[in-house]
Amino acid sequence: MKPLICAGNWKLFKTPEQARAFLKTFRSLISPEQESSFILFPPALCAGTMSDELKTSQLSWGLQNCHSAGEGAFTGENSGLVAKSMGAKYCLVGHSERRKIFRESNHELTLKVKFLQSIEVCPLLCVGETDEERVQGLTEQVVLEQVAQGLSAADLSRPFMLAYEPVWAIGTGKVATSDQAQEVHALIRKFLREELQVTRPISILYGGSVKPENSKSLATQKDIDGFLVGGASLEPESFFRILKEAQS
Ligand code: PGA
Repeated sequence: MKPLICAGNWKLFKTPEQARAFLKTFRSLISPEQESSFILFPPALCAGTMSDELKTSQLSWGLQNCHSAGEGAFTGENSGLVAKSMGAKYCLVGHSERRKIFRESNHELTLKVKFLQSIEVCPLLCVGETDEERVQGLTEQVVLEQVAQGLSAADLSRPFMLAYEPVWAIGTGKVATSDQAQEVHALIRKFLREELQVTRPISILYGGSVKPENSKSLATQKDIDGFLVGGASLEPESFFRILKEAQS
């Protein structure tokens, strides 16, 4: 059974009280050995709760976004440096909602990856094509360009992770087939090895309508190392069952 990473992106859902209640139930479901398989990305305002609740836990958490500087005159932004001081180990970078709704450019994402590595918070760079791009046969080009640009200022010897999230599969219930996902994961892996000369194993997660019902077939694919889950990570039972089914 290969080790899997199961990351939950709560987006803009949950109050600190709801986060606390989630963690209580979730920790009663998982074994202590399973804790390190999970990462949670709560809304930034729940950071204090995560920090308090997970002090003695192997369950990690991170931000969904941060600024590319740790401090400064950046009204309204989140600081990765502050989150790190509170115990955050990861930060999402370039989620498709950030790229599309908030118009984040590849250049900004490059700076965020670089900054996060410099403060020893592991960036989880998200990439993925839109429906239109897939139909036009641009998947490979778009995805590999996003990987190349996102990592263009990174120190490739330092920790980083990737998530392939086809935009058409996010929150739509339309999951990529495991073969479709595997095909892109394999392309990313080849690109890392052959173009970027990264020879150590890098975790590449799949995201987009992952549920307990489809996690097993995705996990059987050679190049899928885990999941980035939105909707199904909001309930402790379904989030736990994604890993349980995948390992069954
Ligand atoms: P979804 O979201 O699982 O609800 O499709 C995935 C994501 O946005 O990371």
